[in-house]
Parts: sequence; structure tokens; C-alpha cells
Amino acid sequence: MYQDITHIKVNLIKNSYEVLVGSNTIYDIGFQLKQLKYSIGTKILVVTNPDVSKPYSSSFIKSIQNEGYEPRLLTIEAGEDQKTTESIALIHDAAYEHKLERGSLMIALGGGVIGDMVGFAAATWLRGISFIQVPTTLLSMVDASVGGKTGVNHPKGKNLIGAFHQPKLVLIDIDTLNTLPEREFRAGMAEIIKYGVIGDKELFEKLEEAKDLKNLESIDRNFLLEIITKSIKAKAKIVEKDEKENGLRATLNYGHTFGHVVEALSGYGKFLHGEAVSIGMVIAGQLSLQENLWSKAEAKRQNELLIKAGLPIKWPNLDEDLVLRSLRADKKVKDGHIRFILATEIGKVKLVNKIKEDQIYKLLSSLN
Ligand code: NAD
Ligand code: GLY
Repeated sequence: MYQDITHIKVNLIKNSYEVLVGSNTIYDIGFQLKQLKYSIGTKILVVTNPDVSKPYSSSFIKSIQNEGYEPRLLTIEAGEDQKTTESIALIHDAAYEHKLERGSLMIALGGGVIGDMVGFAAATWLRGISFIQVPTTLLSMVDASVGGKTGVNHPKGKNLIGAFHQPKLVLIDIDTLNTLPEREFRAGMAEIIKYGVIGDKELFEKLEEAKDLKNLESIDRNFLLEIITKSIKAKAKIVEKDEKENGLRATLNYGHTFGHVVEALSGYGKFLHGEAVSIGMVIAGQLSLQENLWSKAEAKRQNELLIKAGLPIKWPNLDEDLVLRSLRADKKVKDGHIRFILATEIGKVKLVNKIKEDQIYKLLSSLN
């Protein structure tokens, strides 16, 4: 129906799907449902939150109804603290009331929190039904909506409860970013920069050449489409080779090991995930330098790009013993050694297994 939609295929042994990226695409959802190659029945549960529902849900639902489907809208409060098994129960209750069947569909309309929850609710309803991702934050467009990681938080830790469950389609409308708070937009940019550092030098250089990365209004639409598309392709390529994270997929966690520590020890909510990842990338870069894996000049290029995107780069003042304890709890420790994804050059990273705890103390003391 709409021209100018970029199609990106995520090729998996089972359950391949497409990511569609374009402008003004969400009101085309009904049409896109008709294009699916399998039957999805008529009953559809759309899950969203108030921030997204207000600007988008009414036309979204109409587009689905116009094609003869019976959608029901469930709105869950916004925020990471809603990413719980209680919210999953709300989604399952709505699925029951709306009489969703094995062949029915759920749609996640929102950011990564909604996407992760709906994916998990779909994975567990009637032993697994189909779902579609309609991501509305930059972070969920380039990362959370693609790759099939779904789940919720446990009181003891983030994303401890989950399942791999691939969506049937990811429908991205970059115009939904118009209503996204600026800070959230920048947090998403951290993940785009990450794709440049871990595997796409050309993307990194494009970001370096851009006039501005901080404000949506001053970013050219075609450029935005291009960097979103490149990021999704980078993620798809990795997921295709290592869907269940047996190795290569861990490279997507560049900056995340220290990022998780920053999030946890500063108190969840102080830093957005992408902001913590930005700080984590700086520290991972510093550790790469300490290990003589890359050059000062490359670390500087990475950090300058993060600054250009308006992201924080300064390591907060955190107790070193607590940092170590947090790293140990982050499932990254094996035989007294901590595993990190470290940069070797712009566009290349490697998994390093042999970092000893005293090397981390050395790194942390160099930061103060
Ligand atoms: P989010 O879903 O909390 O959204 C951020 C904020 O923006 C929320 O307040 C939301 O209501 C609001 N919002 C969303 N879209 C909007 C729009 N278009 N206009 C106005 N407001 C809007 O956060 P996020 O950054 O999208 O996702 C973070 C979550 O994603 C975390 O829970 C993280 O664990 C998860 N995640 C998952 C994966 C994965 O592979 N599954 C990858 C990365 C992150
Ligand atoms: N966000 C990391 C992953 O999808 O593996």
C-alpha cells in the first residue's frame, strides 16, 4: 500500500520474519496483517501503554477493524517497574476474556517494556501463540523488537524470567519517534553507536559525519531511516548466526556488562538503559586500552561520538567492591575470571574470558 518501506528479512532455520521500516506505517497495520502468509484468525489482542495509546491507538485499532479483524486493546501502565509477572497475568486475563485461540495474535504497540512483555505473554499463552512487534522507541526499533528475546523482571534481577519467541512481523514507523521524549531518543542512539563499534565501521563513520545526533528535529529523515535500517541489519545478521546466544550474539552486549552495574548500583531509573550502555561502552573501551587491544585514538573516536549524541560518558562514583560483587552476580564470572566483550578496532570486538578481578580494580581506580 505504502511505497518506501524497507524490508529486512531475519532468516532463521524456523520462524523467519520480516522487519518493515518506513514512515507513517502503523496505520497500515490492517493491510500488513492481510499480507501475512499464514492464517491468524480474527481475534487480536493489542497491548500498549498510556503514552503510546493516546497518540496512536485509536487509528491503529481502526486500521485493524477495517480489515475485518476483532481487536481488543489492553493498556498497561508505563515503566520498567511494570515489567513483572503481574502484568503478564493481566495480558493473559485479557487473552482469556477475548477468547484468543492457538491461531490468534497479540500485538505489542510500544517500547521495549511492552515488546518484551507481550512477547513473553504470547510465548506462554496456550503454549505459544503468534505476536507482532510495533516498536515506538528508537531503542526498541533497533534492538528490543528484533531477535526474539522476551521476558519480564524478577525482584532479584532484570529479565530473569523469559523465553525466546520470535515475532511474526516487526512493523516500524519512524514517525512515532515524533512524540518520544528527547532523552529516550538519545538513549536509543547509544545502541546505534554500539552497532557501529561492534561490527559496522561504515555505520560508525556515517554517524561521525552527521551534523547532529542529539535532536530528532535536526536529523535528516533519510539519514535516520538509513541508520535504523543498518542497525537492524547488523542485529539480524548476528541473530541469524546465533539465535539462542551460544556465542556470537553475546557481542551485542558490548558496553552492557558495566552498563548493568551502573543501572543496578545507581538505583534503577537514575540512568536510562541506553545511557548506562553509553557509560559502559566508555569503560569497556578503557579496558580494551588497558589490555592493549585497541588504540587511544579509537577509544577517543568512540567517546566523542557518544558525546555528540548527548549521552553521558562519566563513570559515576561507585564503591569498587560493590561493582565487583555486581559483576559476579551478572553471570559473567567463570573460574574467578570475568568475561567481557572488548573492542579491538572500530567495527570489531572480541570476547575476552581471562580478565582477573584485580585488573578490574586497577581499571576502576584509574577512573577516579
Ligand atoms: P520503554 O518501553 O520503557 O519506553 C520508554 C518510555 O517511552 C516509556 O515511558 C514509554 O511509555 C515511552 N514511549 C514509548 N514510545 C513512545 C512514543 N512513541 N511516544 C511517546 N512516549 C513513548 O523503554 P525502551 O527503552 O523502549 O525499552 C527498554 C526495555 O527494553 C527494557 O526493559 C529492556 O530490558 C528491554 N530490552 C529488550 C531487548 C531484547 O532484545 N528483548 C533489548 C534491549 C532492551
Ligand atoms: N539485546 C541483546 C540481544 O538481543 O541479544
